[in-house]
Amino acid sequence: MTEERHQIPQHIAIIMDGNGRWAKKKHQPRFMGHRAGVQAVETIVRHCVARGVSVLSLFAFSSENWRRPSKEVSLLMELFALVLKQQVKRLNNNNIRLRIIGDISQFSNSLQKQILEAQTVTENNTGLTINVAANYGGRWDITESVRQIANKVKVGLINPDDISEDDITAGLTTMPLAEPDLFIRTGGEQRVSNFLLWQMAYTEFYFTDTLWPDFNEQSLDDAIFSFGQRERRFGRTSEQLKDDTNA
Ligand code: IPE
Ligand code: IPE
Ligand code: MG
Repeated sequence: MTEERHQIPQHIAIIMDGNGRWAKKKHQPRFMGHRAGVQAVETIVRHCVARGVSVLSLFAFSSENWRRPSKEVSLLMELFALVLKQQVKRLNNNNIRLRIIGDISQFSNSLQKQILEAQTVTENNTGLTINVAANYGGRWDITESVRQIANKVKVGLINPDDISEDDITAGLTTMPLAEPDLFIRTGGEQRVSNFLLWQMAYTEFYFTDTLWPDFNEQSLDDAIFSFGQRERRFGRTSEQLKDDTNA
């Protein structure tokens, strides 16, 4: 493994924000921003493969996004269905595994069926793994994991005193994948908006004003470069880390 390869975050999580503002700047309806956002996803997926990233988690629709005007919500659902229909074959040909994380039970039956099919078709692929977070909320993810533990306690499989952090981690939708190394949010807001809350306890954060449809290969390389400049100490001191590398 070369030094440079070492600097590549293995798991990148992105809040793809700014589609609406991108469209507004061009005097177009918000939906055009979402459509342009899909193009940016394609570009970034290709570039993640080129850079040797293993996992890409993309926030596509949050559990709070149902609060948007119903017209925008239904257009987003249609777009999601269309993208699955058009892209799954291509992803599969490129050895990419697609997983959808989130509460898909709230989606239409046909969309749920499409999602399950897309996951099944690509499940044995060994290249990049993409987690698309759809109707996802970090608090929901943790709650679901805790619910599974509570059910095990109920039937006597676990003693409440033995519940560990690892048990909570084990029930999350992103398992068994490693936690994100780098979190990127486009569009200028500096918040987490209920994305991967538990999983990002030690993730490096990167914010950019670039609107998602404008986020390109160079933008991703800038974020990866910034990541490479960071010292991930995980609670230890800088000196300890240097001692470890010298040893
Ligand atoms: C992100 O872009 C996409 C979704 C939430 C689906 P926005 O739609 O939030 O764009 P802005 O923040 O209004 O510009
Ligand atoms: C967060 O974007 C979710 C997605 C990008 C899908 P929003 O633009 O909805 O986030 P808030 O609500 O403004 O923080
Ligand atoms: Mg937004």
